[in-house]
Amino acid sequence: MSKIISYTNQKGGVGKSTICIQSAFDRAEKGFKTLVIDLDPQGNTSSRLSGGNELTGTKAAQLFLSDLDAIEPMSCKNNSKVPQYCRDNIDIIHTPKNDAELAKIESQPLTISANPRKNLQETLQKYDYVLIDCPPALGNKLVAALMLSTHVACPVKLSGFAVDGIEGLLRTIIGVRDRDNSALQIAGIIINDMDNSVVQRKALESLQKAVPHLLLENRIMHRPPLDAATSLGVPVKTLTYGHVAAKEVDLVLTELFEERVTG
Ligand SMILES: Nc1ncnc2c1ncn2[C@@H]1O[C@H](COP(=O)(O)OP(=O)(O)OP(=O)(O)O)[C@@H](O)[C@H]1O
Ligand SMILES: [Mg+2]
Repeated sequence: MSKIISYTNQKGGVGKSTICIQSAFDRAEKGFKTLVIDLDPQGNTSSRLSGGNELTGTKAAQLFLSDLDAIEPMSCKNNSKVPQYCRDNIDIIHTPKNDAELAKIESQPLTISANPRKNLQETLQKYDYVLIDCPPALGNKLVAALMLSTHVACPVKLSGFAVDGIEGLLRTIIGVRDRDNSALQIAGIIINDMDNSVVQRKALESLQKAVPHLLLENRIMHRPPLDAATSLGVPVKTLTYGHVAAKEVDLVLTELFEERVTG
């Protein structure tokens, strides 16, 4: 059975796309056939994974049509910037840069959120892992992603409001699970881009109190090479100066995929 993981947080800039992209490289390297669905109208994940090549095949916005007859994911096999394993094992359902059609999904009725699950039914079965990069909002696209997922992972950047944000997100996740997708499991909260400031340490303590069982044990610190790798669209471990970042990412992804994304 394919594992379908949504990377979600209604806050922007917390590392959803970064961790989603590095997850795709990690799964691909381990030989798993991986599909990435880019649900963010900014389209950054698509341009990175395609290596700047022309984006082809089905667009993510089309998944919301009520009468989509065929889905053609784009293969990343022409992306010469990444190692062979990435090229061969990663497909994407892409979003062009600043896609107005995908942005408009938020002004449609909520019922539109059921369409991607229906349209993707057959496609999902062809992959070991399907990784969904979600936009920073609690809207129709997030609900659509959660409706078709088996798991949800929440990257968090610690701040004074981290707990409040997580409570809002968990309410949305549990709402979708109870209404539409009883199979949905919360894989966990991934602390990312961490420094050791007083504010962050306090926020971490509050989160540990509020949702102890949801926090992954491993964390990713503020690591500029991870930013560089993601901007370049390459696995962080391929950067010669990125070994500390790569180790942290590897520990987090191992914990996520081996211990948290189960069943
Ligand atoms: N651990 C880290 N260390 C340093 N930089 C990081 C780290 N994690 C993410 N970044 C950088 O922070 C920025 C935001 O990350 P990213 O785009 O992954 O967040 P996001 O949650 O997907 O944002 P959005 O909600 O806008 O889609 C990027 O420039 C990324 O490279
Ligand atoms: Mg993003």
